[in-house]
Amino acid sequence: TNPEHSGSDLAEPYLGGLLASLGLNVHYHRARKDTLYYRDETGREVAVLDLVGGYGSTVLGHNHPALVAHARQLLDQGVPVHAQFSRHPYANDLAQRVNAILRREFGDVGEYSAIFANSGAEAVEIAVKHAELDRVAKVADLMAEIDGNIEKARAALAGGARVPADETLDRLTVARAAPPDAVLDAVTRANAERAAAAPVFLAPEGSFHGKLVGSVQLTHNAGFRTPFQSLAARCRFVPVREPDALAEAIDAERGTLFDVAVDGDAVRVVERDLPVICAFILEPVQGEAGIRPFDRETVERVQRVCAAVDLPIIVDEVQSGMGRTGTFFASSQVGLLGDYYTLAKSLGGGIAKAAMTLVRKSRYRDEFELVHSSTFAKDAFSTLIAARTVDLLEADGGAVYALAAERGARLLAMLNGLRDEFPTVVADVRGVGLMIGMEFRDQSGSAAGFIAEQARDGLLGYALSGYLLRAHALRVLPTASATDTLRLEPSVFITDGEIDRVEAGLRALLTALRDGDEAAIAPG
Ligand code: F0G
Repeated sequence: TNPEHSGSDLAEPYLGGLLASLGLNVHYHRARKDTLYYRDETGREVAVLDLVGGYGSTVLGHNHPALVAHARQLLDQGVPVHAQFSRHPYANDLAQRVNAILRREFGDVGEYSAIFANSGAEAVEIAVKHAELDRVAKVADLMAEIDGNIEKARAALAGGARVPADETLDRLTVARAAPPDAVLDAVTRANAERAAAAPVFLAPEGSFHGKLVGSVQLTHNAGFRTPFQSLAARCRFVPVREPDALAEAIDAERGTLFDVAVDGDAVRVVERDLPVICAFILEPVQGEAGIRPFDRETVERVQRVCAAVDLPIIVDEVQSGMGRTGTFFASSQVGLLGDYYTLAKSLGGGIAKAAMTLVRKSRYRDEFELVHSSTFAKDAFSTLIAARTVDLLEADGGAVYALAAERGARLLAMLNGLRDEFPTVVADVRGVGLMIGMEFRDQSGSAAGFIAEQARDGLLGYALSGYLLRAHALRVLPTASATDTLRLEPSVFITDGEIDRVEAGLRALLTALRDGDEAAIAPG
């Protein structure tokens, strides 16, 4: 049934109009593998080849039969979907399996505890909250230690010690001739203010980590982020591919606390590092920035620089994880070892909403479990579907990973061929496994007026997607923050015939763009 209401559209009403203007307003009523079906005006069912793949949530395709059967079975047997604050052995089972994969891909890296969530942004916010809990506790320990030192200093001063006048007092903004007690009070006052300062996060330019209150501050796209910047901690975006950029950013954000040290008959004011930077977060393959993988050299430098200041690394595998790139963790291909990993999207097998955050045991704080929870997280349905999804990825010695690498290479080779054929239209083709982007050259001067206009509005990728859907029954969408790049994230089951269909559709598109053929490309 397809109810048509007489009233106005109330469900995200603006989006409906935008979809219509781009020719993307179809309602899919059925899905299987890499195909979505809608009915046209005549009621005829149209099969669309889906390369969006649920924005990365359907690495095993839509409605994978084993997952559908499992879901049905769970509901038939009356599994208690919601039984919060009871034992969840299946959640432990999932955490153990993912830990075993971590060991296989990264070596003996120790255990990671798992916290469960409902969405990618929530998994990111769990990592952020945990890192902040850890940071705040470290600051508190530091403050307690300094308080102890201040008491020792008072005792030393009472015994005749003095405070030598040096430039640290200038930084403390007390007069060099100030009485010793005033110096100690100034230390306490300055530290209270410095320790209470908001933390800062570091992330590569182009990062996308979600759109909730906290995570959107880690998302570089100014349109998504800036209206909400007063709501959460700040992130500094770093051009990490430049060799010195991260070290410079860390230096620029560095903070200190004052401490006092008794040294013979002198009480010296000294400065100590204050952990102001909460975490460094990155995607191993940037998704929304236009599908941009990080190379091994950059990743090694990032890890070295972060380790030097004990800065935890959050590896966001929400989009790149779950086998899409040819390994379970995309980060393992470049040796990027995280203190935190986030998983979501395909974790739910394209059926459930499931997410998890892995936290390295050496940093893990048990008390986090008492301060973070969600009604829906770790529910039996999603967690068991996630476990079955992991099983399917791991089956037959990891056949799915091999398939992702092989299918991805084939798709990439085809796209590279098109790039060579249409150098004036295609700027670049890049990706890893089944996470691929095709970047278009600027079309704002196109002879096709519709294309030029959409390009000037930053909607080029959406306009191209509308054309591919209408004219070739191909579903493609641009990356969220680089709308000149079309993303291709089909399932591992995409066939040679389907890749040929993609090639034919794209060749027609590229030909029309090259020739500025308005009639071919503008909506009728
Ligand atoms: N992290 C990454 C790397 C993502 O790509 C996304 C979502 C999120 C976190 C947030 O996950 O949507 O479940 O809250 N990327 C989407 C996309 C929106 O367009 O690919 P979420």
